[in-house]
Amino acid sequence: MKILVLYYSATGNIFKMAQAVTKGITEVPGVVGNLRRVPETLPQEEIRSNPAMKATAELQRDVSIVSKKDLIKCDGLVLGTPTRFGNMCAQMKAFIDSTGDLWSKGTLVDKPAGVFCSSNSLHGGQESTLLATYLPLLHHGMLIVGLPFSLPELMKADLGGSPYGATTVVRTSEGQGPTENDLAIARALGRRVATFTAKLRG
Ligand SMILES: Cc1cc2nc3c(=O)[nH]c(=O)nc-3n(C[C@H](O)[C@H](O)[C@H](O)COP(=O)(O)O)c2cc1C
Repeated sequence: MKILVLYYSATGNIFKMAQAVTKGITEVPGVVGNLRRVPETLPQEEIRSNPAMKATAELQRDVSIVSKKDLIKCDGLVLGTPTRFGNMCAQMKAFIDSTGDLWSKGTLVDKPAGVFCSSNSLHGGQESTLLATYLPLLHHGMLIVGLPFSLPELMKADLGGSPYGATTVVRTSEGQGPTENDLAIARALGRRVATFTAKLRG
């Protein structure tokens, strides 16, 4: 069983969350997590002139860019995006909007899917981002996997984490990345999507 962990990260926070999701997937016997990133759409000049973005681009150099084959071959999917004006980032949307041919063939129908996101501020639109990210997945006929409050880490979450998906509040100015609890919830999301994928498609 293969779960595709597909993400975009400009300054590294979603990358850390994506790694935690992938780790959670591998905790389920017989399931592997394949980490991929969506193509960048910002001009390279803009990335090179921003030290945080430049360093993050270097860090992610070894992560392959997604291809449609990855979607065809996957048994489940977890999507991660930073919040952009309360919505998913354009890089992720551009890739999703290129999948009309897969939609018409029903390639993703009945495959489980989960989502995760990050925002700079607590009320900066995490829930709207997660819910908006569900919409194209539902159009593709995917089965949405959220997070239950029976998860201890979700019960004690004060900033990141929600029943709609794993999240982190990054507070860029304070240099805060995902907390241990945020990463534990991200791992739990990976485990949960992998568990349901194995049950449904095994
Ligand atoms: C164009 C743009 C729009 C953004 N919009 C929001 C927003 O609506 N709410 C918010 O809290 N943060 C917003 N942010 C901050 C990002 O969500 C934050 O930098 C991101 O989650 C960090 O993830 P990354 O380190 O993986 O790139 C925005 C950032 C950019 C560049």
